Amino acid sequence: MTKKWSPDSWRALPAKHIPAYPDPAALAEVEKTLKSYPPLVFAGEARSLKQDLADVAEGRAFLLQGGDCAESFAEFHPDNIRDTFRVLLQMAVALTWAASCPVVKVGRIAGQFAKPRSSDIETIDGVTLESYKGDNINGMEFTPEARRPDPQRLVRAYSQSAATLNLIRAFAQGGYADLHRVHGWMQGFIADSPSGSRYQEMASRISEALSFMEACGVTSETAPVLRGTSFYTSHEALLLGYEQAMTRVDSTTGDWYDTSAHMLWIGERTRQLDHAHVEFMRGIRNPIGCKVGPTMNPDELIRLIDALNPQNEAGRLTLIARMGAEKVEDVLPALVRKVKQEGRTVVWSCDPMHGNTISTSGYKTRPFDKVLAEVRGFFAVHQAEGTYAGGVHFEMTGQDVTECMGGAQAITAEGLKDRYHTHCDPRLNGSQALELAFIIAEGIRKERGGIARVAAAS
Ligand code: PEP
Ligand code: CO
Repeated sequence: MTKKWSPDSWRALPAKHIPAYPDPAALAEVEKTLKSYPPLVFAGEARSLKQDLADVAEGRAFLLQGGDCAESFAEFHPDNIRDTFRVLLQMAVALTWAASCPVVKVGRIAGQFAKPRSSDIETIDGVTLESYKGDNINGMEFTPEARRPDPQRLVRAYSQSAATLNLIRAFAQGGYADLHRVHGWMQGFIADSPSGSRYQEMASRISEALSFMEACGVTSETAPVLRGTSFYTSHEALLLGYEQAMTRVDSTTGDWYDTSAHMLWIGERTRQLDHAHVEFMRGIRNPIGCKVGPTMNPDELIRLIDALNPQNEAGRLTLIARMGAEKVEDVLPALVRKVKQEGRTVVWSCDPMHGNTISTSGYKTRPFDKVLAEVRGFFAVHQAEGTYAGGVHFEMTGQDVTECMGGAQAITAEGLKDRYHTHCDPRLNGSQALELAFIIAEGIRKERGGIARVAAAS
């Protein structure tokens, strides 16, 4: 790894999963244009998220991160943004209630386009083309034109991210996210869901709490915190040329921030210590994440932590474990223990999606039960190790898709074809995501020790 960092120091190192563009001069031109465009987020906001994540690392808050596996140009619609935002808020209310602590909300949204693929090429009927790598790189259609990486797509992705973020900011602060409304949606979900009655008690108690506060004069009019919410954006920092173009010096601190999102993360396939992605990410000052899969070993993890967070700052680094339901309880304890023993401060979050993907009836899917089992295993490991299960990371959508099997709607292998719309990995639909949040919430509440720890730390 080079010692001196600059926004382009990654270019001297090997990089995985970055496509080769047929016209590098056109790519350079687009990157130059993007460099002149306004930042999408401000450094001060990224610092606020880091502060919130420091609270998560120290057990005073819980992280909820979620959204599409891959955003697409075709699904760019205000209703889709609204529905994903709405489900995330509903999940957050259930979790806030359960953990009795703030929930830090981070969307996989407004920039989550590029995808690492297991194979660089795809062959259909004897024809081989480059794989689909996300709408900011190439098109999904199986034609040579669509599959050719086109730098103009980066400009379109930037515009879509800007418009998405604009709507999210309006929703978060403009009254849409009022706690009373969110609670009203929850009651709607409980009335309509096949397993809704299980959650009636929690909803009733939240209603009582809101009525009590109102009686005390704490209403949306008197307490702005009930009227709005903070919501942050994140995506995998895969396409480093784009990320570099969005990286700017913050005028108040003189530090470099990647202004394409509040938080960026390194994927499981690009976390090599001496490669380009780790090099780029170590120099930006945003809070960052790194996926941690089952092949990680404890010593390697410490080296990676030290490269990414040399000052051991709380909130800087979130480790997103994605082990698979079968492996989490075997593999995670040694990693968690080592990090604790070595005194490194991180947020531990659980991605129960990427280790539980299977194929059936010609579709990639994830059984709801496996997703749930991995979350449970993750919580059990942290309970046993005396560490904080800091958060969860889901691929989900507010739409009523049929991409993951199971859940209260009991989606079957045959039922997957009904509304299978994802551009990449299968997502939990709105109802499954909310059901999962309720189950996690119940789990946190039952785990009285967990709540006591949170309370004692605050
Ligand atoms: C993802 O989060 O979409 C992803 C590709 O995950 P991972 O890097 O964990 O495989
Ligand atoms: Co994915």
